[in-house]
Amino acid sequence: MAKAKQPPIPAEMLPKHIAFIMDGNGRWAKKRGLPRTAGHTEGARTFKKIVRYCKDIGIENITFYAFSTENWKRPDEEVSAIMNLMREYLVEVRRYMTENTRLIVLGDKSGFSPDLRQGFAAIEEDTKHFTEMTLNLAVNYGARHEMTGAVRQLAQQVQAGTLAPEDITEDTISQALYTKELPDVDLMIRPSGEYRLSNFLLWQSAYAELYFCDTLWPDFSPKDLDAALIAYAQRNRRFGGV
Ligand code: FPP
Repeated sequence: MAKAKQPPIPAEMLPKHIAFIMDGNGRWAKKRGLPRTAGHTEGARTFKKIVRYCKDIGIENITFYAFSTENWKRPDEEVSAIMNLMREYLVEVRRYMTENTRLIVLGDKSGFSPDLRQGFAAIEEDTKHFTEMTLNLAVNYGARHEMTGAVRQLAQQVQAGTLAPEDITEDTISQALYTKELPDVDLMIRPSGEYRLSNFLLWQSAYAELYFCDTLWPDFSPKDLDAALIAYAQRNRRFGGV
C-alpha cells in the first residue's frame, strides 16, 4: 500500500520494530517552571504525534515505555497523573478503529486498578485482528520482571512434565515473554541525553541499534525520528557475523 508520507530512508531499510524510551518529561516541565505532570501531558501528546508519523511512513511495530515497574516509587500525584493519561488514551483510541492498528499492552497488568485492567484487555481484544501496524504500550513493564515470569512459567511446565529441560530453547523463552508476537527490536531510541536501557526490552534488544539524542521527549519530533532512521540506515548490522 502507498504510504501517506515518504520515509527518510528507502522503505526496505526501515526497522521492523522501533522502541522508544519516553524520557525527559520532568526536565521539560521544570525548565518551564511547570509541575512534572505537565511534562507527562506534553509527553503523551508527543507519543500520539510519533505514533501517527510512524504509521504514515510505514513502520510495522512500535513500542513505547510508558510506565516501568520502578515508576510506582514516584509521588502519588505523578503516578495518578500518568494513570489518568492512560485512561484518556483508552477512550481516545476508540476513534482510531479505522486505522488498522493493533494495540498490545506489555507488562504486568495485575498492578493496575480494575478499570484500567479492563480497558487494556478490551482494547487488546478489539484490535487484535488489525494488521497494518502494532502499537505496543509497555506499562508496569520491567525486563527482569518479564524474564522472571517467563522462567517461572517454563519451570511450571517442567514440573508438570509437559516440557523437558533440554527442549528449552531461545525460541521457547521468546514465546514466554510479553512480546511473543513481535519481531526483535531493530532500533531503540532514548532521548533526553541519558545513555542507558533502564530495564527495557533487554532480551528483545540483544542486537538492536541504540540511538541516543539530547532532545527531551516532549520536544521529540518527526525530524528527530528521521535523524534516528538516517543514522540507523548507515549502521552496519552484523549480528555477530563479519
Ligand atoms: C520519563 O520521564 C517518563 C515517564 C516515567 C512516563 C512517560 C509517560 C507518558 C509520556 C504518558 C503515557 C501516556 C500514554 C497515553 C502513552 P521522566 O519523568 O523520568 O523525566 P525526567 O528524567 O526529566 O524526570
